[in-house]
Amino acid sequence: MSRTGRVGVGIIGAGVISGTYLENMTAFADLDVLFVADLDLGRAQAQAEAYGVPGHGSVDELLARDDIEIVVNLTIPAVHTEVGERIIAAGKHVWSEKPLALDHESGAALLAAAETAGLRVACAPDTVLGAGIQTAMRAIRRGDIGEPLTATTMFHVPGPDAWHPNPEFLFALGAGPLFDMGPYYVTTLVHAFGSARRVAAVSSQSSAVRTIGSGPRAGTEFAVEVPTHHAAVISFEGGQSAQSTFSFQNALPRMGFVEISGTEGTIVLPDPNMFDGESTLWRFGQDEPTTLPAVGSTYGRGSGVLDLARSIRAGVPERASGAIAAHVLDVLLAVSSAAASGETVNVDSRVQQPTPLAEDWNPAAATL
Ligand SMILES: NC(=O)c1ccc[n+]([C@@H]2O[C@H](COP(=O)([O-])OP(=O)(O)OC[C@H]3O[C@@H](n4cnc5c(N)ncnc54)[C@H](O)[C@@H]3O)[C@@H](O)[C@H]2O)c1
Repeated sequence: MSRTGRVGVGIIGAGVISGTYLENMTAFADLDVLFVADLDLGRAQAQAEAYGVPGHGSVDELLARDDIEIVVNLTIPAVHTEVGERIIAAGKHVWSEKPLALDHESGAALLAAAETAGLRVACAPDTVLGAGIQTAMRAIRRGDIGEPLTATTMFHVPGPDAWHPNPEFLFALGAGPLFDMGPYYVTTLVHAFGSARRVAAVSSQSSAVRTIGSGPRAGTEFAVEVPTHHAAVISFEGGQSAQSTFSFQNALPRMGFVEISGTEGTIVLPDPNMFDGESTLWRFGQDEPTTLPAVGSTYGRGSGVLDLARSIRAGVPERASGAIAAHVLDVLLAVSSAAASGETVNVDSRVQQPTPLAEDWNPAAATL
C-alpha cells in the first residue's frame, strides 16, 4: 500500500557533512527526520541531539523502523554501496552521498536491486538543483549563448588534508579530486550537454604521503592512494566538448570554475559545489557582460532528498537520479582508466538530459 503525507527520513553517517544535511532537512516541512545512526553511537547521539532528532543508535535499529521511508547514506565512499544494499534490503529508498559507488558494477548492482524491490536510489550532488546552477541552465535552455559547444572547468586546491579531521578517505579509492569533486562538475556538464561518450585524460600524484592539518589527529601522516591531479577532455553525444582539471596539489586555489561557450556567447557559472551565486553572460559584439542573479531555491544539501520524497509521493522521477549518478560515475571511471592506459575510453551509459527546475521551486513549502 503506498503511503501518503510527510516522508520519514533516517541518516546513516553522523560525520562532517551530516550537520548541513540535518540543518536543512529538519527545516523542510515535507520531511520528518526521525533517526541518526553511525558506527560511532556517541557521534550519532550528539548529532541527533544537536538538531532535535528524536531517535539515534545503530544502523540495524534504524533499518528496523517502519516509519522511515528514505535513508540518507552519509558514510564514506568505500561503503556507499554496501550500506545502500542494506537499505534496499530493508525496503527503504536510498539517498547516497557521492560517488554512487567505487566501480561501475557495484553501482549498477545497487540500482538493479532497487528496481527489483520497487525502490529508488537517488544521489548527490544536489547542489546542481540550487538557484545558481539552475539559473544558468535556464539561460542556456533559452538560448542566451546560442548552441552550446564547449566548456572549461577547473577545481584546484592544495587538498582537504589541511581542513578535514579524518582526511584519509579523501585520498583513497573512491575519492581524490576526481571522485570527490568531479561529481559536481561532471553533473553540471551533463545537465548542460546531456550524456558524455568519450574521454581522454592524464593524471599525476605530487606526494605519496600527506599530513593531517587540523583536529585532534593533526600532525599524523597517511598514505596517498590515488592520483591528486587529473586533466581530462570529455566529448559529449551531442558533439560538445569539455576540458576539465581536478587537483588536490595546487598552492593557488581556483575552484568553482565552470565556463560554457556557444555559438552566440559564453556563460560563466557559479561554483557547482554551492547552491547560490550569480552567472555572467558574455555575448559576441557586446562590450560588457550581463550579470544573471541566481533565482530559485538557495537551500543547501538535503534539497535532493526533499525532491526524492516529493517525487515518490507524486509517482514521478526524482531529479538527482541514480541513473545520472551512475553515468557521472562512468565518466569519472573513464577519466581514471584513460589516464592509466594512455588511451581514449568510451562511456557506454546514456541518460536523459534533466530539464531545469521552475524558478519558484521551494523545498521549504509544505506540500505533502
Ligand atoms: N565533508 C564534506 O565537506 C563533504 C561535502 C560533500 C559531500 N561529502 C560526502 O559525504 C560523505 C561523508 O563525508 P564526511 O566528510 O561527513 O565523512 P566523515 O568521515 O566525517 O563521516 C562519515 C561517518 O560515517 C560513519 N560510517 C562509516 N562507515 C559506516 C558504516 N558502515 N555504517 C555506519 N556509519 C558508518 C563514520 O563513523 C563517520 O561518522 C562522503 O561520501 C563525502 O564525499 C562530504
